[in-house]
Amino acid sequence: MKLQLAPSVLSFDLTSLSISVPQLVRGGADIIHLDVMDGNWVPPITFGDALARSMRRHTDCFLEAHLMVANPESQFEAFAKSGCNRILFHIEGCNHPHRLVEGLRRLNVGAGIVINPGTPVSAISELVPLVDMVLVMTVDPGWGGQPMVRSALNKVTELRALRPDLEIEVDGGVDRETIVDAKRAGANVFVVGSYLANQTDYEAAARNFKARMEEA
Ligand code: DX5
Ligand code: ZN
Repeated sequence: MKLQLAPSVLSFDLTSLSISVPQLVRGGADIIHLDVMDGNWVPPITFGDALARSMRRHTDCFLEAHLMVANPESQFEAFAKSGCNRILFHIEGCNHPHRLVEGLRRLNVGAGIVINPGTPVSAISELVPLVDMVLVMTVDPGWGGQPMVRSALNKVTELRALRPDLEIEVDGGVDRETIVDAKRAGANVFVVGSYLANQTDYEAAARNFKARMEEA
């Protein structure tokens, strides 16, 4: 599976993403990861589809929306129309996940299911054959800059054995050190937020992290 870097903009200066996102993309970022939070399903509030729409004016990079919201289905059409290529929703945040995956298919966007550190792979076993991606949270959702919950990597290994062709993404606490275990566990897509946001030269930071992903 192709290794992909997905910077999360959550920890970046949101008022200057039209500058930082193109820098990340020039450095080799494969996906831009948008952490959508509603202040209800998780305590913080971040942004809605308007940010995705603005971002689409500044980059043609693959955009994915990570919906950490109550009733995620209510946001599907808006994020699909905003130019997102993939929408990720939490199994913990919906009652009819199979119907929601079908709904994303009808909107012609990629479908991803997300599991929190406390949720077993068995909770999504019927969905694994149907989705384009499983996002394994390696922190509890809501904030950037948290330490990785390394036990969650066991689920990555379990998923890789279930579907060798699956896009398996990890999200939370990924940096130059933890990338080694995350890649070894079988993940191939890596969300990186604060580690990149804390650098000064985002193009170089993305390029260096991509090199680190390959050598890890
Ligand atoms: C947390 C978000 C993550 C987070 C990652 O709820 O889903 O994408 O921004 O940030 P870092 O890389 O700082 O853990
Ligand atoms: Zn995320």
